[in-house]
Amino acid sequence: MGIQLLGVAMNGVTGRMGYRQHLTRSVLAIREAGGVPLPDGDRIIPEPILVGRSETKLRDIARQHGIERWSTDLDTVLSDDTVQIYFDAQITSAREDAVRAAISAGKHVYTEKPVAATLDAALELAKLARDAGVRNGVVQDKVFLPGLLKLRRLVDSGFFGRILSIRGEFGYWVFEGDWQQAQRPSWNYRAEDGGGIVLDMFPHWHYVLEHLFGPVRAVTARAVTHVPRRWDERGRPYAATADDAAYAIFELDGGVIAQINSSWSVRVDREELVEFQVDGTEGSAVAGLTGCRIQHRALTPRAVWDPDTATSDDHRGRWQQVPDNGEFINGFRAQWERFLRHVHTGEPFPHDLLSGARGLQLAEAALQSSRSGRRVELEEVELA
Ligand SMILES: NC(=O)c1ccc[n+]([C@@H]2O[C@H](COP(=O)([O-])OP(=O)(O)OC[C@H]3O[C@@H](n4cnc5c(N)ncnc54)[C@H](O)[C@@H]3O)[C@@H](O)[C@H]2O)c1
Repeated sequence: MGIQLLGVAMNGVTGRMGYRQHLTRSVLAIREAGGVPLPDGDRIIPEPILVGRSETKLRDIARQHGIERWSTDLDTVLSDDTVQIYFDAQITSAREDAVRAAISAGKHVYTEKPVAATLDAALELAKLARDAGVRNGVVQDKVFLPGLLKLRRLVDSGFFGRILSIRGEFGYWVFEGDWQQAQRPSWNYRAEDGGGIVLDMFPHWHYVLEHLFGPVRAVTARAVTHVPRRWDERGRPYAATADDAAYAIFELDGGVIAQINSSWSVRVDREELVEFQVDGTEGSAVAGLTGCRIQHRALTPRAVWDPDTATSDDHRGRWQQVPDNGEFINGFRAQWERFLRHVHTGEPFPHDLLSGARGLQLAEAALQSSRSGRRVELEEVELA
């Protein structure tokens, strides 16, 4: 059995996503499991090199996890021949320059979403990566989650018949930061720092809709800032200039309509923080991050609209759980494994920078729709 080492420069590992999901639950978890197995029996072992701004924080993380290499100097790391992949989980506004530098140093790139702050910048990065011949990818973790994998199984099996509509509900209350600490970094609520729920979540909705149901052709959206004043990590009040809720209708190929509410100003009355109900002529499903329930056409109860009579029907009790039928690993790790195989063996990887750019296109179109009060159609994006 051969060991294939791949050096991965990981920038932004002191942050929430970089540390928890990408370093510990993905790259270190893969190492602990002995690497990513390949069909010929070889294994890919990623070798992390931590990159960031704070020497103290990097040294602490490195010591805690027994990682030998770390640096605050990205240029030096990018000039190191043992580094094959550059990974970026920095705040969104810092990403473009770093990814550009990595591509020009000839590294394969993998990045958190959104790929950049604007569609133009994202397309430029996708073009640079293509021209440099480097492999590239964007994090699209939600399609690797158990609930959505089960939904995918239902779509592939033809369970729904003709799919009519999708209604998604995402969100939870993010504390303002005064009387209880906010559970998300404050930059998310400042437009000038790349914040906003549309820029954060619409790239997710784009690939979830595209991978499961088909491309989005038009969007009508209203983005708002419900909570205009918040308190930052140091307890200082600031003006929340970014949108914290968005109400959107997406039109997909084949006349499928998806309607998704996204909000950091909503209290949860759902089984999961995100849920998608899919209705089709033959059956319906409600999928969350982990679970997925179905109701087939033949098991649909006859509902009768009578507002004057209180109902004792247990509507939710009439749905059936989709079985796991296997073991699921962390969604971020599942996508890392695919990306590492893509880099090493050229295995197809649809989650490339161009796909990430389409996510930004959807976010920008939604913001444009919100500003203008109009429906916005999406042109096919192509690399020049
Ligand atoms: N895939 C997902 O589900 C998901 C979820 C949340 C966030 N994200 C994305 O991950 C990225 C990081 O988000 P996060 O929530 O981990 O943020 P975070 O604030 O916790 O971490 C940000 C990281 O960027 C670094 N950084 C570099 N320049 C900075 C600057 N000028 N100011 C502040 N920090 C700077 C920080 O040191 C830190 O390591 C964002 O692009 C975000 O859109 C993805």
